Amino acid sequence: MAFSGTGKIWMNGKLVDWKDATIHVASHVIHYGSAVFEGARCYETPRGSACFRLDAHMLRLQQSARIYRMEYPLDLAGWQNAVLDTIRANQMKECYIRPIVYRGYEALGVNPFTCPVEASIILWKWGAYLGKEALEEGCDVKVASWSRMAPNTLPALAKSSANYANSGLIKMEAVTDGYSEGIALDVHGNVSEGSGQNIFMVRNGVLYTPPLASSILGGITRDTIITLARDLGFKVEETVIPREALYIADEVFFVGTAAEVTPIRSIDKLVIGPGRRGPITSALQRAFFDVINGEVPDTHGWLTYVYAEEAALRAPRTVEVRTT
Ligand SMILES: Cc1ncc(COP(=O)(O)O)c(C=O)c1O
Repeated sequence: MAFSGTGKIWMNGKLVDWKDATIHVASHVIHYGSAVFEGARCYETPRGSACFRLDAHMLRLQQSARIYRMEYPLDLAGWQNAVLDTIRANQMKECYIRPIVYRGYEALGVNPFTCPVEASIILWKWGAYLGKEALEEGCDVKVASWSRMAPNTLPALAKSSANYANSGLIKMEAVTDGYSEGIALDVHGNVSEGSGQNIFMVRNGVLYTPPLASSILGGITRDTIITLARDLGFKVEETVIPREALYIADEVFFVGTAAEVTPIRSIDKLVIGPGRRGPITSALQRAFFDVINGEVPDTHGWLTYVYAEEAALRAPRTVEVRTT
């Protein structure tokens, strides 16, 4: 996924050319990882481009910033509008959306308070994160030798750049060993999450996923899948999962904005279930893609149309039923 290097980037309220969206090498964020960010997606739907759960993503951005005591003068609506304006300025139909709030250039002590809080929104085209084939066939993963952050060290619920030093170690180990992704355990040895995805396991028709206290990011796709699974009548439990439960699961799959819903066909070379996408993973994947692609009514109010007038024009016509 190389950048096209063109288009506009939102920087502190201004749209600047891609090549001019630069910061100084002495900026605090470069040295100390002092940034929080989001990853959302905009999809093409029959009613035009729509961002998926933009409000939830921007709320999490604000919450991550709060944990790190970074105040930025935009409220929730302001953040959403900034994203929508940037998509419109770039005339993009579908894209990955990366807002980031970071400590800028002023001084280079550890104390972040001396440095300004700045923000940017970057958009680019990003297809299937673990490959299109993985969405259908599943991916081969390993349990990482690196644990996720211990509680009260780096806050896992904040989507902070610093956490991705840990994610990078997990991912590099997996790729070096010939796997496409790693699953990290928490410091107690229970299942936590992938380097950039949450994880679900299916056993005897019930879905299980680690709770927030297992050092996971509170994923928006995770929440979406819990909701869709319950809509479909499945039982979902947020519970501590021992590592070995994965090996004897019927189905295991990753979820995330980048990975969407990706089946896992083997873990540590042990084949999971039938070794391909299982029936419950398929059902949830279908339900998820139907919602994000606008193929079914948006009953949960998860889509924000980028071009509202176009969306209104293309809205399905409601047929009035007369009873008299
Ligand atoms: C570490 C980590 N866990 C989980 C997720 C999934 O979160 P979401 O579904 O909100 O994208 C991500 C993706 O951002 C992530 O980086």
